[in-house]
Amino acid sequence: MANKIGVLVSGGGTNLQSIIDQIHLSPFDASINCVISNRPDAYALQRAQQAAIPHHVVKHGDYTQRVDFETALISVFEQYQVDLVCLAGFMRVLEPGFITHYEGRILNIHPSLLPHFRGLHTHQRALDQQHTQHGCSVHFATAELDGGPLVLQAHETILKNDTAESLAARVLVKEHIIYPMCIKWLCEGTIFCKNEIAYHAGKPLKQPLRLDEISA
Ligand code: GRF
Repeated sequence: MANKIGVLVSGGGTNLQSIIDQIHLSPFDASINCVISNRPDAYALQRAQQAAIPHHVVKHGDYTQRVDFETALISVFEQYQVDLVCLAGFMRVLEPGFITHYEGRILNIHPSLLPHFRGLHTHQRALDQQHTQHGCSVHFATAELDGGPLVLQAHETILKNDTAESLAARVLVKEHIIYPMCIKWLCEGTIFCKNEIAYHAGKPLKQPLRLDEISA
């Protein structure tokens, strides 16, 4: 039975675009049934429009309680029978209620090698702390911000003349590879999450897979 994907966005939507493109170019048992942005000006909404994907704005500022905002998100997704949620540049922290509703069926892409640099400004923080390796991570989302079980990471060597912008640009390219890959795996049952443990090919992942190893 096709996986019905709902995507939560807040910004430019390049990760949304990579999911759209992946499903278009090499279809798998999934469709993006709905895109919701918490920001009306998110270019991601244009991308949904261009791809003829139903899209809605649910503004967090319209709700005094987080739980009401999330109830609104869920009620929109329910209209489209969404059963798999992808956070794609979504800049709101989700409450436990939302996470429980989609138990084990929420993926997130984060621009760092988690558990390093949870939260924002990850590229500048990696430069400031003189890390030599940086990258991006796909993980199952839990109530803990950027804290859920890791699935797959891609690494980028930090160059001596890197700026946050140059580093972000290289990491973003890798995001667009690993995120659609993991979404396809989840849709095909290659990965799943049980009791906040990520499994790949039936085995619990004690550490995330590395793109530079699996693609070898
Ligand atoms: C990406 O680095 C994403 O990981 C982060 O925001 C950046 C832009 O994402 N959350 P997108 O272009 O809106 O998908």
